[in-house]
Amino acid sequence: MVLSMDPVKKCLFPVAGLGTRFLPVTKEIAKEMLPLVNRPIISYGVEEALASGCSDLIMITGRAKRSIENYFDRSFELEELLKSRGKMDLYKKMVEISELAEILYVRQREPLGLGHAVLCGERFCRDEYFGVILPDDVFLGETPILSQLLEVHRRWGGTVVALEKVPRDEISRYGVVRSEDMGNGVHRILDMVEKPRSDEAPSDYAIMGRYVLSPAVFPLLAEGRVGAGGEIQLTDALRRLIGSEPVWGYVYQGRRFDCGTQKGWLAANIQLALEDPELREVVLDSIKGSKNF
Ligand code: G1P
Repeated sequence: MVLSMDPVKKCLFPVAGLGTRFLPVTKEIAKEMLPLVNRPIISYGVEEALASGCSDLIMITGRAKRSIENYFDRSFELEELLKSRGKMDLYKKMVEISELAEILYVRQREPLGLGHAVLCGERFCRDEYFGVILPDDVFLGETPILSQLLEVHRRWGGTVVALEKVPRDEISRYGVVRSEDMGNGVHRILDMVEKPRSDEAPSDYAIMGRYVLSPAVFPLLAEGRVGAGGEIQLTDALRRLIGSEPVWGYVYQGRRFDCGTQKGWLAANIQLALEDPELREVVLDSIKGSKNF
């Protein structure tokens, strides 16, 4: 398949997941709306996509995710109230959020897995490479991870997945690759497997939640083959892409927090607070236990 190397403009956000690891709070709150200090998790992914040059954002949502749509929309009542109270800074902030990006929403009607969620975005990305951001994985670093992957895509062409070396006892949570190290963080992917047992994992390199994907993945996903956990897995479709199209991995630079887990979410909050000049002392004082707030 010959595809143009036009800049990647579209980015999919699979956000239909139930967030069971955060129950009971996720009984009523979308996990993507949990706060990292005072902004929802999803806003970090959206800003990363925009900073990476993507302008068309497509959220693959499910039931109980309306709050994401509302967050990125205008909120006239709130805006009027803030204006009438003279809180113009806050008013401007609220309007800015709704003007951040043009976002389309597509419903994933059944929870059939990440591969199926990506397939739900097919009609928007049929003929071009596109980005995928799994917003649970929040990255903090100088250069957005998606833009690091896009740089590899520009140089080498093809599909690119984010890679991180993880400890063996955590490897079975991820898609794992067998690869050839090409230098400078770039790996040629030879094989990949979704959530292998730790003694069967082909390496310590796990796939993290950022992808630049070829649209050639759609027909493979559409076959609907079921993999790990009884779900249609993106990793399985990408595995079958290897051989017909180049698939690269990139060991990204930056820090990752898995905000789909309580540990990662808490660590991200602490890290962001430590980086904030006003909140840094609060974290340090509260650890010392010397002060009331
Ligand atoms: C998904 C992917 C997996 C990847 C992970 C990164 O798994 O299927 O390959 O390693 O995201 O966060 P999930 O976290 O949805 O189980």
